[in-house]
Amino acid sequence: MIELKQISYGLEDRQILRSVSLSIPSGKFIALMGGNGAGKTTLAKITKGLIVPSSGSVVLDGRDISSIEREYQTKVGIVFQNPENQIVSSIVEEDVAFGPENLSLSSPEIAARVESSLKTVGLWDLRHRSVQALSGGQKQRLAIAGILALRPSYIIFDEATALLDPVGKHEVLNTALELSKSVGVLWITHDLREALMADSIYALREGEMIFSGSVPEFLSRGDIMEKANVVIPDEITLAQELMQRGVRVDWPITKESLLKATMLLSSKMSH
Ligand SMILES: Nc1ncnc2c1ncn2[C@@H]1O[C@H](COP(=O)(O)OP(=O)(O)OP(=O)(O)O)[C@@H](O)[C@H]1O
Ligand SMILES: [Mg+2]
Repeated sequence: MIELKQISYGLEDRQILRSVSLSIPSGKFIALMGGNGAGKTTLAKITKGLIVPSSGSVVLDGRDISSIEREYQTKVGIVFQNPENQIVSSIVEEDVAFGPENLSLSSPEIAARVESSLKTVGLWDLRHRSVQALSGGQKQRLAIAGILALRPSYIIFDEATALLDPVGKHEVLNTALELSKSVGVLWITHDLREALMADSIYALREGEMIFSGSVPEFLSRGDIMEKANVVIPDEITLAQELMQRGVRVDWPITKESLLKATMLLSSKMSH
């Protein structure tokens, strides 16, 4: 488990983060929401160990990361918004091999890692392709494969779907959900639909954590969602309306679960 304990971060006498705490258990999918400039990327960089907080600590399995700096770097991967900025080689398989090569692993070990990582993200068949020929979603999955080749225990996704088309968004979210069965995932997003897939949700506003809890709890806190600049999609509003009228909406919210709840409501009304 990664624990952020009362993290504060200041820049040029501005407080960017104020005593923020958050946990990423292994094998869980944790969502972090918040408006522009709330401090999400700053928190992501602190979690990855790229910047050092002004106060508070980042703890991995009970050990402060400042004491395990090198080991920590490979344990935690991060995927950023722009797929173009995360690629180092021109051929798919070479890009994935780059990280393990820097760890001075043996050639068979590198080859095995490249193969398993590319298979996990569904890019094995494209291994000889030029990176530039990939779609945005494929590039983000390539970035994920590069991280997987380092055998991380945690992966942070900082708005990793923001620049992708709907198909790409779907591919990357599903890859992350699948990975979260074995690694801890911190999924930073503006999109409530994506956050609804999480095991728990956190919300930041102006450097302060204003919510942490379950998805249903979050959905019941319209006030918090408003403060965190969360846009509520129509189907979520509909589900909330149905619940307020006393009908159960099956989880997760889908066309089918909404239809079922709507039919329950109409039979209830006709009695
Ligand atoms: N290197 C920097 N120098 C000055 N200010 C910075 C720097 N990095 C971040 N900030 C400021 O810190 C605040 C938090 O920024 P951060 O990027 O963490 O927010 P965010 O929640 O990721 O926003 P977004 O949704 O736009 O990605 C913002 O007000 C930003 O302007
Ligand atoms: Mg950001």
